[in-house]
Amino acid sequence: MLRISVMVSGSGSNLQAVIDSIDNGQIKDAEIVQVISSNSEAFALERAKKHGIKGVVIGKQEFPDEEERNVELIKALKKENTNLVILAGYMNILKPELVKEFKGRIINIHPSLIPKYCGEGFYGGKVHEAVINAGEKESGATVHYVDEGIDSGEVIIQEKLFVEPGDNPESLAARVLKIEHIILPKAVLIWQSKGEK
Ligand code: GRF
Repeated sequence: MLRISVMVSGSGSNLQAVIDSIDNGQIKDAEIVQVISSNSEAFALERAKKHGIKGVVIGKQEFPDEEERNVELIKALKKENTNLVILAGYMNILKPELVKEFKGRIINIHPSLIPKYCGEGFYGGKVHEAVINAGEKESGATVHYVDEGIDSGEVIIQEKLFVEPGDNPESLAARVLKIEHIILPKAVLIWQSKGEK
């Protein structure tokens, strides 16, 4: 049984996509053992609660010291014998110690075609704004391994879409989000198929 910890900060629609993919059998032999949020107000925690999934809040409010917060994150992940960490809209950068501890077992969903529009400062709406301002004809989403950089790990899967003439950052974000919900569960299947544990 693949034990998945999902780390969130916001609405949790990508978390919901993984929950639904397990419920509908697309992802087999897996369970979400906890949702760790950096934000006590994250709606993602509501989604977890509704599905009887443990919610844990480990954020700047609870642990102002970054090193201490990182120790708490590692403890929480280990406590549930996590095999796979999914960053689903998690807005904090993971410290190298945690990345090392879970090397090859942390994946992140990013709303652009990495290596474009990623890294420092490229998150949420800023990504789509940059894509539109640059006059890009296409965009999309990517799931990649998390390494010590920001959005710099090996790509697992990505899917493209066309930027429509009338698109603004909000309309583009909404269409990219739909792709995210499709490729994130697929990324879990790819990870499982590699027999990782
Ligand atoms: C998604 O667009 C994801 O790509 C980005 O943050 C957003 C999270 O959305 N990292 P949600 O919380 O999963 O709805």
